[in-house]
Amino acid sequence: MQISVIGCGYVGLVTGACLAEIGHDVVCADKDESIINALKDGKSPIYEPHLDEMLARCSREGRLTFTTNSAEAVRSSDIIFICVGVPQMETGDADPSAIESVARLIATASPSEKLVVVRSGVPVETGQKIRHLLAVYSRGDGHNFRVAANPQFLREGTGVEDLLHPDRILVGVSEPETEQQLREAYQPILDRRFVCPIHTTGCPPSAPPKFVATSVQSAELIKHVSNSFLAMKISYANMVGDLCEQIGGDVQQVTRALGLDRRIGSQFLNAGLGFGGPRLPRDIRALCRLADRIGIDFGMLEEAERINQQRVNRFLARMQRALWVIKDKRIGFLGLAAKPDTDDIRSSPAIELIRRLVAEGAQVRAYDPQALAKAQAECPQLTIGASPYEAAEGADALLIATEWNDFRELDWERIRDAMARPLVFDGRNLMDPRKMKLLGFEYHSVGRPD
Ligand SMILES: NC(=O)c1ccc[n+]([C@@H]2O[C@H](COP(=O)([O-])OP(=O)(O)OC[C@H]3O[C@@H](n4cnc5c(N)ncnc54)[C@H](O)[C@@H]3O)[C@@H](O)[C@H]2O)c1
Repeated sequence: MQISVIGCGYVGLVTGACLAEIGHDVVCADKDESIINALKDGKSPIYEPHLDEMLARCSREGRLTFTTNSAEAVRSSDIIFICVGVPQMETGDADPSAIESVARLIATASPSEKLVVVRSGVPVETGQKIRHLLAVYSRGDGHNFRVAANPQFLREGTGVEDLLHPDRILVGVSEPETEQQLREAYQPILDRRFVCPIHTTGCPPSAPPKFVATSVQSAELIKHVSNSFLAMKISYANMVGDLCEQIGGDVQQVTRALGLDRRIGSQFLNAGLGFGGPRLPRDIRALCRLADRIGIDFGMLEEAERINQQRVNRFLARMQRALWVIKDKRIGFLGLAAKPDTDDIRSSPAIELIRRLVAEGAQVRAYDPQALAKAQAECPQLTIGASPYEAAEGADALLIATEWNDFRELDWERIRDAMARPLVFDGRNLMDPRKMKLLGFEYHSVGRPD
């Protein structure tokens, strides 16, 4: 199929690369010239495991091209995936202006029949609004456009894997032919005909995905309720962690046993600094706003959000107790990204912690395997360590804020010797408390006995 993807951020690039990988001809368009120039030079503007190889392979084989000319991309394709950003405004509402401008462009640029697929995370009713806009701006009844929702459930760090081997592919459609067209677009993934090259064993791990077709409205809602449910699970685990801290339990033991119940599942039950990133905080807020607007009391969501917002405060209070005075302390900082295996720092609890520590007069030196450049652009006052060891050098305390696997494997004796005081605050329960004690650290984690 001829496909265009508008917006080359995280979602657009992973979507475009994977659709090309399964055999479609894809053109990815972005209004940002620097992004397109980098992509044409073979450089990905984001870090995501396996994405670079996939972009290189599909470009080389001619199935994937990049352009700043969105109108041309729209004209050349049968299906248009809208993947532009939908940021949150000060009011908490989503800002749909990028989506709206792409819809207007499609309406005016495209005389022939198209399927417009909204892939960005959007408020409920966006599909309806786009359908209306397409009709109005194309100066017709919009009959040559069909609109579908195809929310993605990509997790940064495993986005390629999530797209190629999903649990389900969700489409929100209004016509049987739209459902059929999207089913065909995803057929190689549905059939598992396609063996993803990222699996060295050549064998995809999961069962074949389910293809779920709903109304457009339901699909838009499913996206929000799924992410909000995950956010509630994390907040629940954090409250269990608070309980454990008070009664001397171990949250990892409790949540491990809890998650073994198949009705509950083990994922998103990690106590720690709470959720961040571009999805969960935004989606839970969007659902709260929707419930508010239509007069439904969805207080449990507000509570999950409130619990999450307390995490950084609780952690800082614990640091304060151990350090007594934070002003002028040197704090080594491991991890800046909102989660491991990504360079995305949007709503990262690590960045919030750094802001607060710096505001209290601490000197922070941070290291992250991928997110240093983005973090420094966001917090210019941040000092960067070239390695974890440099971040720890002379530090009064070391803080782990993102659960990068690499941190587990560090030479912790070397870190201990480099620090002024061997004090570690593990905001992600990454390390084994007994091992850290044996190594001579004062070690604090979340919901586990010190
Ligand atoms: N990042 C995630 O993990 C994730 C996961 C699920 C859903 N989402 C949602 O998907 C959407 C996209 O997320 P993202 O992280 O890729 O966003 P992003 O902001 O990183 O990227 C959006 C891209 O769209 C481009 N763009 C904006 N307006 C344009 C226009 N008129 N024409 C062409 N290009 C335009 C921007 O230049 C930018 O490169 C958002 O709604 C987001 O909330 C993100």
